[in-house]
Amino acid sequence: MHRIWWSFLASFALLAVACEKKTRPAESSSNASVTTDAGTPVLALAPPDNETILIGEVGSLSGAEAAFGVSTNNGVTLAINQANAEGGIKGRKISLKVYDDQSKPEEAANAATRLVSQDKVKVMLGEVASSNSLAMAPKAQQGQVPMISPSSTNPKVTEVGDYIFRVCFIDPFQGFVMAKFASDNLKFVKVAILKDLKSDYSLGLTEVFTRKFTEMGGKVVSTEAYSKGDTDFRAQLTAIRKEKPEAIYIPGYYSDVGVIAHQARELGLKAVLLGGDGWDSEKLFELGGKAIDGSYISNHYSADDPSPRVQKFLQDFKQAYGAVPDALTAMGYDAARVAIEAMRRAPNLTGPAIRDAIAGTKNFPGVSGTITIDEHRNAVKSSVVMEIINGRQKYVATINP
Ligand code: PHE
Repeated sequence: MHRIWWSFLASFALLAVACEKKTRPAESSSNASVTTDAGTPVLALAPPDNETILIGEVGSLSGAEAAFGVSTNNGVTLAINQANAEGGIKGRKISLKVYDDQSKPEEAANAATRLVSQDKVKVMLGEVASSNSLAMAPKAQQGQVPMISPSSTNPKVTEVGDYIFRVCFIDPFQGFVMAKFASDNLKFVKVAILKDLKSDYSLGLTEVFTRKFTEMGGKVVSTEAYSKGDTDFRAQLTAIRKEKPEAIYIPGYYSDVGVIAHQARELGLKAVLLGGDGWDSEKLFELGGKAIDGSYISNHYSADDPSPRVQKFLQDFKQAYGAVPDALTAMGYDAARVAIEAMRRAPNLTGPAIRDAIAGTKNFPGVSGTITIDEHRNAVKSSVVMEIINGRQKYVATINP
């Protein structure tokens, strides 16, 4: 009875926090926190006890990339609620403990340490930004706690060790996708790049795009750099303008891209803007306005996908949150479901057994595509190309590996 009551309460706690988050600005979502741990706000969604299986999550619920963490957490929460409604894992309910890393790698590392040594979670989910996942991964590896990044695409993340997985494609593919689209579909031959020196993600994509686009016969006419958080990009954009590129590839995060796009247009740059998954946030699509209209990005998932699997997810999500899930939400949902399904399959819930079960994931029906984990612990999947029109992402193409 006790157990049933708690899981009942737990579902409500999860739903309550989930619903609250949607309507609150990300910065205040920590108001829903149950405890505050050494300066890091913690969301303990459902009270863990000896019976429940604890999953940890590290995300940017506040700070520069708050939208990444909030969106991802919405997907994770939906997946756990659904799994609990189906009976949980091996007859036990699942609870989730979330740490906010404030969009900072040091905090992500601290949170991972806490999940391993204090909370003793079975699995940890996170992060989105590759630099933050790279800070977490050594802690998970040392503690033998399997970690699944929903959407960090830099190849180095899973190279940290055999406990580190991801459910998304990697940047050598994502960079190729945009190079191919720019070359084959848009027929561009002159592209400039504006990269973020502080982001492993941005540096990795710049390298791949440059190599692939050049191999395809194109020319990268200028590569300029900024540092995350900068607010004035006019010097770089002026240098780019001199080269008269047909497009500017900006492999950055939504938080910087909006400002860059506006300044580019102010300077009279008419080049088409190209980006990657890091652009994915409603905040950019709304605030970017006309400045980003007609831009193209590579991404993990399209809400326009008519497949029953995606449409069911859209319906479930809309019912719980009243909004259309973005790619981050879809990836968070898939990461949590892959973790849960692996724990259901694992002979026991030790670190090595769960690690082996995750490594054995094959043809898993994700909402972001079918997920098979390869020998490097990455998912091999196709990418979609989306066009931004009137503050909305519109499906354009699918590019297969
Ligand atoms: N792929 C990005 C990175 O590795 C993170 C990201 C994924 C951002 C999906 C938005 C959407 O840093």
